[in-house]
Amino acid sequence: MLRRSAPPAPERRMLARAAAVLACRIASGFLVALALLGFCAYRVVLDEQRTQARHEMAMALDLGSPDQAIPCLWLFEVDGASVRHAPQVPAGFPLQSAVAGAQAGAPPAQTHVTVGKTDFEVLTVRRGAVVRQAVFDTWYQQADLDHLARALLLAGLLGVVLATVTGAVLGRRSIAPLGDALERQRRFVADASHELRTPLTRLHTRAQMLLRWQQEQASADGLPEERSERLTSELRAMVQSAGEVNEVVEDLLMSAGMRTGPNRGEYFDLATLAAEVIEAERPRLAGRALVLTTVGDGLIVKGARSSVRRMISTLLDNAVSHTTPTGRIELSLRRAGRGIVELDVTDDGDGFDPADRERIFERFAQSGSPGPHHFGLGLALAREIATDHGGTIRAVGRPGQGAAFTVRLPLTD
Ligand SMILES: Nc1ncnc2c1ncn2[C@@H]1O[C@H](COP(=O)(O)OP(=O)(O)O)[C@@H](O)[C@H]1O
Ligand SMILES: [Mg+2]
Repeated sequence: MLRRSAPPAPERRMLARAAAVLACRIASGFLVALALLGFCAYRVVLDEQRTQARHEMAMALDLGSPDQAIPCLWLFEVDGASVRHAPQVPAGFPLQSAVAGAQAGAPPAQTHVTVGKTDFEVLTVRRGAVVRQAVFDTWYQQADLDHLARALLLAGLLGVVLATVTGAVLGRRSIAPLGDALERQRRFVADASHELRTPLTRLHTRAQMLLRWQQEQASADGLPEERSERLTSELRAMVQSAGEVNEVVEDLLMSAGMRTGPNRGEYFDLATLAAEVIEAERPRLAGRALVLTTVGDGLIVKGARSSVRRMISTLLDNAVSHTTPTGRIELSLRRAGRGIVELDVTDDGDGFDPADRERIFERFAQSGSPGPHHFGLGLALAREIATDHGGTIRAVGRPGQGAAFTVRLPLTD
């Protein structure tokens, strides 16, 4: 078993959702089985009671005497105009319609009759000129059925509780290996990125040094100008590639949750943070115009400052990468409704195919438009950070008409 560190929020939510779905399925399966069992038990008892009533009435009709008092059972003997029966009988009997039917030659028939609030089973037969009618009071049987129904209901309620608890426990247990697998995968990514980070940073620095050295030495070396330029451009490409690989490794490290762990509960001013990120990006801007507009003050957000910084930096970095050196980038901050701050990063650069507006937030997704275009990790992580802070991020863009990214985050006040 792995020693588990707390998984990041989206993963935690996904695991919790999976466990809840499993728990619901187990509990509902259990409940359906219980309901079926209850229904079957009720039907069996009901059939048993009917058979018993019929049996008792048949016995009474064959062997009983109308004057004899049998609990819950009365016997009537109709011979022409005279009717024999025990001293005390329920009102409404003998049942005249059944007697008339039997007298007219109808076969023995059992009928269910309700008189007042009491249910009776009635069996009528003809023996020569005499018609005999047995009347069975089902009160005790009804009472037994009511008891059974109450017991089944109680068992059902207990079953619901039991099914929910069992479902929750089983759901958790079945999801645990999935949590372990995710944890293992996260650790692998974290370890691999961590191991790669140092040699890559060294490579990047060496390439930068080499480029600087080549630029300084170019004229002194006496190398033909064309070769020297070629060397410079190759070295520049190498510096850029090393820088890009470095960024991917940083993103992977961050995605593995190494950076979001501590200081999740900081309070910070989004406007100050945005200004800081802009300052850090300034060296990359070249001739681009970068404008920061802030409407309102006290835009305080709670969360992991470094992560939110990273998110803004990703948006700015993308804006810089997708605009020409004379392009224009705008970062604006404003309150949008109660307790929400909206951060927009807009540029007038390449834009993107509107069909890709969701796909660009997927990890290493491929563009839907023709041509080999793969997306990276940056926006996927930016969305994770926004969601992690209870917010959203969306994008609008058109090819050649720039792009706009909008992040909405809850404010603390
Ligand atoms: N400002 C922007 N203008 C145009 N396209 C953008 C912009 N920002 C992001 N994109 C598109 O979204 C894709 C995904 O961005 P990102 O997740 O940062 O990964 P990467 O930049 O490594 O491809 C980019 O490849 C690009 O096609
Ligand atoms: Mg990017």
